[in-house]
Amino acid sequence: MRETILSTRRLSKTYVADGVQTHVLGSVDVELYKGDFTSIMGPSGSGKSTLLYCLSGMDAPTSGQVVFEGEDIARFDEERLSALRAQSFGFVFQAANLVSNLTLFENVAVPGYLKHGRNAAETRRAVDDLINRMGLSEVASHLPRQASGGQKQRCAVARAVVNEPAIVFADEPTGALNRANSIEVLDLLSELNREGKSILMVTHDVRSAVRGNRVLYFEDGAIRGELELSPWDPAHSEEEAYVCEREAMANSWLSSLAW
Ligand SMILES: Nc1ncnc2c1ncn2[C@@H]1O[C@H](COP(=O)(O)OP(=O)(O)OP(=O)(O)O)[C@@H](O)[C@H]1O
Ligand SMILES: [Mg+2]
Repeated sequence: MRETILSTRRLSKTYVADGVQTHVLGSVDVELYKGDFTSIMGPSGSGKSTLLYCLSGMDAPTSGQVVFEGEDIARFDEERLSALRAQSFGFVFQAANLVSNLTLFENVAVPGYLKHGRNAAETRRAVDDLINRMGLSEVASHLPRQASGGQKQRCAVARAVVNEPAIVFADEPTGALNRANSIEVLDLLSELNREGKSILMVTHDVRSAVRGNRVLYFEDGAIRGELELSPWDPAHSEEEAYVCEREAMANSWLSSLAW
């Protein structure tokens, strides 16, 4: 029996800009499970980012519930939401969005100091460990403009997980990277998932989506389909045949949804 970590009930979101209403999320009921790596695919403009922002407390839904650990976070005030985002959720975006006048080390350390129950020395140790693990030791004292695109995105992953969040939300985290850097970032996400973190990643790329053990298809404001896969096996991740087989399963599922 899988344990639910995050779920929605009749989640809807309507944007109003210049008097024009855009209904983006209709009435979304979705259940995400602890320890899963869930990918979300769907056409551009269908509302995937909006869904991710509402699920992660970055944006408020128009109506409906978002339940995390038994509480409806859609009803939280800004103070409780920011505490939740700092302690329990991590975020990775398409652009690394690092603070330009802080070093890579400092970009990871600043949110790290917000973690409850950890002193300064423990935080520095946690940041050091992550910097090493993400392969950033050589460039830890560089500013973002002195780092490559792949290094910056690995730093963004480190920043997302420095507070040991329960869930990592990623919106097209490899969308701006070349193939080699994408694989590195995906490997890091897969590794974090194997250690028990739940991951929710939006992607346009089938090859990235099949990192997940579950792929959701989002269209016209609702989840239209879902594919279950075996958990990603790192022992085979270098094997083209392994990746191709998962991709073929996802492609035939997507064609059945008339993607
Ligand atoms: N702040 C906003 N105000 C008004 N409309 C918005 C706002 N943000 C998004 N939208 C609209 O909501 C719809 C869904 O946008 P969203 O960014 O969630 O789509 P998406 O599926 O993530 O697309 P993509 O794959 O291109 O990133 C689009 O029609 C978009 O124009
Ligand atoms: Mg988007």
